[in-house]
Amino acid sequence: MKKFLFGLFVTTLMMACQSQEELKLKQYYIDGQALYKTHCENCHQVDGKGLAGLYPPINGSDFLKKNKNRIICGIRNGLSDTIVVNGKTYHQPMPANKQLQGIDVAEITTYIYNEWGGETTITDVKAVKKILDTCEK
Ligand code: HEC
Repeated sequence: MKKFLFGLFVTTLMMACQSQEELKLKQYYIDGQALYKTHCENCHQVDGKGLAGLYPPINGSDFLKKNKNRIICGIRNGLSDTIVVNGKTYHQPMPANKQLQGIDVAEITTYIYNEWGGETTITDVKAVKKILDTCEK
């Protein structure tokens, strides 16, 4: 019986931890979605598919999966190179959002990578701050 109770205790504890992680993910996702609406949706659209020829898709983008650090930097500092997304070349500049804090960038990144990048985890603010410190300005 003692063993059983201990097992139950451990299981409950593990579930509590897991649901805290899940809650945090939900919070990041919801905040990220709101920030996306304000700062990104005009160009990349609500479904993330972009605008033909002008603004690249995030939804279904091959660039997204291969260039996470560059995108994190781009959300804060803008992107002005020529990039190739799904075989198509884009060369319009994407504007910077210098006012965004590390937590905002982390939430936006979590949102777009969970929605369209196949991820099911948080891109944590600590990791994002480290990456932001390495960006070319
Ligand atoms: C004024 C329109 C505009 C806004 C607003 C904008 N972008 Fe972009 N975005 C672009 C353009 C144009 C490119 C291509 C840049 C280049 O060629 O260097 C791009 C590229 C990207 C890419 C890499 C290519 C891809 O589609 O995978 C991602 C990811 C991205 N933007 C996400 C965002 C996010 C997140 C926001 C909001 C914080 C945002 N963009 C705001 C126009 C915009």
